[in-house]
Amino acid sequence: MNQTGYTKEVMKHFQKPHHYGRLKKYNGLGKVGNVICGDVLWLYINVSKNKKGGEIIKNISYETYGCVAAISTSSVITDLAKGKTINEALNIDKDKVAKALGGLPPLKMHCSLLAIDALSEAIYDYLIKHKKPVPEKLKERHRRIERSKKIIEERYKKWTKKGASTKKE
Ligand code: FES
Repeated sequence: MNQTGYTKEVMKHFQKPHHYGRLKKYNGLGKVGNVICGDVLWLYINVSKNKKGGEIIKNISYETYGCVAAISTSSVITDLAKGKTINEALNIDKDKVAKALGGLPPLKMHCSLLAIDALSEAIYDYLIKHKKPVPEKLKERHRRIERSKKIIEERYKKWTKKGASTKKE
């Protein structure tokens, strides 16, 4: 762990993020933001059938405007979700993400939620677009994320009305 409290694994993902950028071909997109810090993450998935005919996340990538933890957790979640079935990907939680990174500073645990929410939203988008059944738990997550998005939009609107200012309040 370095002076910032980040592990070597976190710094590795931050310095060389995996699967960064936009997929050329994708069929699910999750767009999320964090109401507290304003960080934003878009996550792309391409779901297709494996040799056995099961659906898996064949390809995945992301774009983010965020902190070190947001970038590292996004990078590691793409490693964890790639090749997994939809159900397996939905079972990736913040503990699994933190474990894969060798831990996260307690104050940065919330950043891992951004990546998890983006993955959920990409899966939700895929299921809805392809008229597939959406698990109740995923619908609930989607409603919570939508409420957060409304709060962010509201804050952004207030800020743009006010105009940019360098004056500290
Ligand atoms: S501080 Fe915004 S996601 Fe980390």
